[in-house]
Amino acid sequence: MNPTKKMAQFLLLLAFFFGHSALAQERFSIFVGSDPANVERMLKLAGLRDDDIAIDLGSGDGRIVIGAALANPKLRGIGVDIDAKLVKEATAAADKQGVGDRVRFIHQNAFDADLSKASVIFMWLWPELQTMLRPKILAEARPGTRVVTNVWDLGSWQPDRVDTDGPQISMWVVPARIEGNWRWELPIRGASRTYSALLEQRFQRAEGFARVGNRRSVLREVQLRGDEVKVLLDMTVDGAGFARHEFTGKVNGSTIEGSVRIRLSSANERGPEETIVLPWRAQRVADADYLAPTGLDKL
Ligand SMILES: C[S@@+](CC[C@H](N)C(=O)[O-])C[C@H]1O[C@@H](n2cnc3c(N)ncnc32)[C@H](O)[C@@H]1O
Repeated sequence: MNPTKKMAQFLLLLAFFFGHSALAQERFSIFVGSDPANVERMLKLAGLRDDDIAIDLGSGDGRIVIGAALANPKLRGIGVDIDAKLVKEATAAADKQGVGDRVRFIHQNAFDADLSKASVIFMWLWPELQTMLRPKILAEARPGTRVVTNVWDLGSWQPDRVDTDGPQISMWVVPARIEGNWRWELPIRGASRTYSALLEQRFQRAEGFARVGNRRSVLREVQLRGDEVKVLLDMTVDGAGFARHEFTGKVNGSTIEGSVRIRLSSANERGPEETIVLPWRAQRVADADYLAPTGLDKL
């Protein structure tokens, strides 16, 4: 059967199941294998690496996991499927193709899969089922994990990259959680300054605000990719002058560690500009210093 006909048949089956209960959605289990050309495109978009652990949620006959293991001789793979018969078939296929020592197939509901060790997650599931797995991926997969889907997307979470050379293949990078309140100290021009930031986040997009003493500023830019964060901040720091900050760091739970390059305006009108590079260690804090009262006396 040609791929277009196969896809049309799959869509018809989806339409049939669409009207059924939530339980039917979660356990939806029609198997249609991805077209080999699309498997190849998914593997390519994932950018497979030696140290990858790739998991296919709803692995069917195992073609994606086996394909990934064949494409990279060091990669390890896991497939989970709700259909025990398919799990058996996939295990036999992996042995037959000589990758049985690096891949395994588990009879499991995708909602119970352990995502904590995966670095790549593949999916081709019913659209709503895929989107229902989104909170699990964001909560349990490590920042930096690539998520690659065939055809269907993940709702309002916009992909980081797409391949539209055929049915759309999409790739997302799981973002670190940076939303909330952060605080750090920097020694600038002879005094320790306390910085506070309040970050807002929607998937991989983030924006925020900073406060130093009683001055506040909008962060010029917040870039987030996996656990890597870059922040640009322009503001006057009392007693130090106007400062252009470029922060670069890695998010690890409640800390961000990296460095900051600060270009300071001249200390007085005639003095030279100065560029300093300092270590940056931000800590997540409960209190929003940004929102603390300003008062009138120190303005
Ligand atoms: C469209 S097929 C995709 C198979 C394979 N990933 C591929 O692209 O060739 C969907 C697969 O997901 C499995 N599946 C459906 N619901 C599932 C669930 N809740 N947990 C685990 N597997 C599920 C089905 O049994 C089926 O094998």
